[in-house]
Amino acid sequence: MGVVSALKLRHFRCFDAHEVQFEPGLNFIVGPNAQGKTSLLEGVCILLRLQSPRVSRLPYVVQHGRRGFAVDGYAGNRHLQFYFSRERKKLMLDGVEQRDATEYLAVGRVVYFSNSDIELVRGGAEGRRRFLDFLASQRDATYRNALRSYERALRSRNLLLKSPAPRWREIAAFDEPLVASGERIRTARERLVEELQPAAAAAHQAISGGRELLALRYRPGCGPDFCGELKAARSEDARLRQSTRGPHRDDLELDLDGRGAEFGSEGQQRTLALALRLGGANLLAAHFEDPPVLLLDDVFGELDPGRRNALLGALPGGAQKLITTTHLGWLEAESGGRTVRMG
Ligand SMILES: Nc1ncnc2c1ncn2[C@@H]1O[C@H](COP(=O)(O)OP(=O)(O)OP(=O)(O)O)[C@@H](O)[C@H]1O
Ligand SMILES: [Mg+2]
Repeated sequence: MGVVSALKLRHFRCFDAHEVQFEPGLNFIVGPNAQGKTSLLEGVCILLRLQSPRVSRLPYVVQHGRRGFAVDGYAGNRHLQFYFSRERKKLMLDGVEQRDATEYLAVGRVVYFSNSDIELVRGGAEGRRRFLDFLASQRDATYRNALRSYERALRSRNLLLKSPAPRWREIAAFDEPLVASGERIRTARERLVEELQPAAAAAHQAISGGRELLALRYRPGCGPDFCGELKAARSEDARLRQSTRGPHRDDLELDLDGRGAEFGSEGQQRTLALALRLGGANLLAAHFEDPPVLLLDDVFGELDPGRRNALLGALPGGAQKLITTTHLGWLEAESGGRTVRMG
């Protein structure tokens, strides 16, 4: 069961210590601004995925003035515990300390919808790569390690390229790990986009009423011969003092009816961003026995009733939904679900 039932946060964002219960199905987290609604969703995401949906570095999550944070909770009948500080990380699964995150991360999956998802369409490629990475590491258990190896090799290579007198013998030593992990990333992203395309297009039709056709295309940051391109790009890399080829330059192209989505209206871009998240959720739901936990941060209050109902109806059936909102005025009386009040 992919249901998060109890969550305890300690020294986490605005929370000194906080406990909350969730139910299967619908949960509404209601309260004024700055009461910690988003932080609760972030807590669920970190509990299940050891990663924040809003920042790339976990030290930001530590409450100001504290050394580290702890998250503790149940996903189905599995007990998850994670302690994080700059100096020390500790993972426990059912009371047993884990040296490796693989088994822990196999427990549950999440999809985070946010009001700023429009940046996936409007913003730079980095946000789209992060979207793909977050999804790919849930879809494929080995992806996270490939990404980490790649980032490590890239960091070292770029550091050497920035030194006053770069030495190619040293720099080239990182080409092999870069190529090995880079090719795994490329293959995984390619396959993911292939799977995501029909799921996102179907989600888009469901929310928009089928007016436009959404197409996704993977745009790799280098050709099929990554190793050869690295060598050929040496003088360019030396001049720019950074690695100019590889998956860190990948992008995900988004088209509506054959035209770049950056030309779409704000409403079209919001709908597209929702479709990407929803497509990802349906993809994960199709691949695992348990549907992902859906974290919907300030999304529903912003939609018109037609799209709100379309989105609610298109969310994977049986998934647990944690929905934050400042007010419940938009909610139909008969929706049911649990309400958690904050502040
Ligand atoms: N590392 C941190 N340590 C302490 N407090 C923090 C930290 N990070 C964020 N905060 C504070 O936590 C509070 C809650 O933030 P959060 O984003 O969870 O609120 P929210 O209820 O989602 O608000 P909104 O309705 O505006 O989205 C804010 O006042 C924020 O400044
Ligand atoms: Mg918030």
